[in-house]
Amino acid sequence: MATSWDNSYSLGIRVVDDQHKKLFEMIDAFYDQISKSSDIKPIIALVKGLKEYAKTHFSAEEMIMKKHDFPGFIAHKAKHDKFIEKAAEYEDKLMKGAILLPSEIVNFVKTWIVQHIKIEDRSYSMHMEKIDVKKNYL
Ligand SMILES: [Fe+2]
Ligand SMILES: [Fe+2]
Repeated sequence: MATSWDNSYSLGIRVVDDQHKKLFEMIDAFYDQISKSSDIKPIIALVKGLKEYAKTHFSAEEMIMKKHDFPGFIAHKAKHDKFIEKAAEYEDKLMKGAILLPSEIVNFVKTWIVQHIKIEDRSYSMHMEKIDVKKNYL
């Protein structure tokens, strides 16, 4: 099941929305790869790529949240850290030759990201709306 971007995911913060779109594209590429081949090598590369890009994205969000004193910063960052930990764990297991279902990995990533955007990311976005700084990020 590919994930397509639609406006319900938009937070109205340009840099964040663009990064979320890119994450969705990476998830789509993951599903494409699974449907094409059962080769594990490209799967490892996809997990690694997603993990690295998620790090970049999380850092960007954390900078924005800190800059605007988002009160939920610590809890939000903890969720980011946990996701990276989990992705690193998948990568590690795959590299050690463990038999993991790529579809389980990508389903986890997709579900996590969708929920995270709709709940946690929306929450700091609403804070920014409240203090009226979103106009700086259009
Ligand atoms: Fe995000
Ligand atoms: Fe986030």
